[in-house]
Amino acid sequence: MTPSESRAFLLLLVLLTILSFLSSLLYYSFLDQNLHLQECHPDVPQRNISILLWHWPFGRSYSLDGDKCLQMYNISNCFLSDNISTFSSADVVVFHHQELSIGLSPLPLHLERPASQHWVWMSMEPPVNNANLTQLNGLFNLTMSYRRDADISIPYGKTVLGGGNKLGFQAAPNRSCLVSWVVSRYHPHQARAGVYQSLKKYIPIEVYGRWSKKPLSDKKLLPTIAKCLFYLSFENSKSKDYISEKLWRNAFQAGAIPVVLGPSRATYEALAPPGSFIHVDDFRDTVQLAAHLKHQAADRQAYEKYFQWHHTHRIKTFTDWRERLCQICLKYSSLPANRVYQDLESWVNS
Ligand SMILES: *[C@@H]1O[C@H](CO)[C@@H](O)[C@H](O)[C@H]1NC(C)=O
Ligand SMILES: *[C@@H]1O[C@H](CO)[C@@H](O)[C@H](O)[C@H]1NC(C)=O
Ligand SMILES: *[C@@H]1O[C@H](CO)[C@@H](O)[C@H](O)[C@H]1NC(C)=O
Ligand SMILES: *[C@@H]1O[C@H](CO)[C@@H](O)[C@H](O)[C@H]1NC(C)=O
Ligand SMILES: *[C@@H]1O[C@H](CO)[C@@H](O)[C@H](O)[C@H]1NC(C)=O
Ligand SMILES: *[C@@H]1O[C@H](CO)[C@@H](O)[C@H](O)[C@H]1NC(C)=O
Repeated sequence: MTPSESRAFLLLLVLLTILSFLSSLLYYSFLDQNLHLQECHPDVPQRNISILLWHWPFGRSYSLDGDKCLQMYNISNCFLSDNISTFSSADVVVFHHQELSIGLSPLPLHLERPASQHWVWMSMEPPVNNANLTQLNGLFNLTMSYRRDADISIPYGKTVLGGGNKLGFQAAPNRSCLVSWVVSRYHPHQARAGVYQSLKKYIPIEVYGRWSKKPLSDKKLLPTIAKCLFYLSFENSKSKDYISEKLWRNAFQAGAIPVVLGPSRATYEALAPPGSFIHVDDFRDTVQLAAHLKHQAADRQAYEKYFQWHHTHRIKTFTDWRERLCQICLKYSSLPANRVYQDLESWVNS
């Protein structure tokens, strides 16, 4: 080597070393990001926000002792209460629809309502289950539901970037059953009942839940669904943005491919992980759907394609009412001022 050649060689070595150092830095900071399990919230409120839950949904209450939003969800300055005597000092009062609609919990119309206080109408049910809405017109400032266009949107689950779900199952199809469905309230007039009745003529479907007289305990739910390749994530009604735990929990957490019936394919594409589901609307009829399921079941590679999103995406489910209530604080500073739902019923049905 001439002196100039060896100088060039040295330079190259130094460059390579720097490059490999930089790339490992990048790699580890990427890993580090993925290891952060508890979320950091840039939108935490600047001052203390007090949220009053007027009554617990469906009569089941949970402890609010201590600073639950901080302890459980790392959201500071956000205080939850279910003590209705604190009404006059609450920044936000949340009313769950079911108890209002049946008259179980009357609205505090006799109390003086602070001018800056927000009343929130909350429901996680599709429109068909939200009765008696006209009596609520002109009272609420904000809506809280799974809908993306609600003032406070609280979906049953969401898709987030970053792979690495710790999966307790194998994508490889080594399962004893083809399709399962868990249903508690079966009504023949529902769209899902029609599809089920027709589909079961062409493929066997294992049915569980109250309607089939094979109820499943909470503990048995996911392991039972996990025995099957596919799960019928059929919503009780086809409503805008209504994608319930039937997708997020029952199918995704059990590791069965969801066959979905609910809002449009475009909605599922916007909300669910890419390539993660089979939509009933994609098939001319149930003969075609049945044929597709049988084909995917027989072709291991085709089946596993539906699990590729695990490398790039994760899902997060929301089930605790307290987590939903704490979300209000993250939105608080950007909530619309002086909004009043004069016609709540038409918003719900829109
Ligand atoms: C909690 O959130 C804060 C800011 O929002 C963040 O700095 C902190 O790292 C988070 N803590 C944990 C344990 O994630
Ligand atoms: C917010 O609440 C906490 C806990 O009650 C209290 O220690 C703190 O002083 C409050 N901050 C403000 C600005 O009122
Ligand atoms: C409810 O709030 C009122 C008013 O702040 C307070 O006097 C009362 O002790 C509270 N009740 C409970 C059970 O915390
Ligand atoms: C609607 O309100 C009436 C009377 O207030 C009540 O009897 C009925 O149960 C309510 N319907 C539903 C479906 O909540
Ligand atoms: C597949 O299932 C069969 C029967 O249940 C079992 O014997 C076999 O070990 C399983 N294979 C894998 C790879 O899990
Ligand atoms: C909330 O709605 C009521 C009408 O029901 C209205 O008088 C009040 O100004 C609204 N408050 C806020 C903070 O938007």
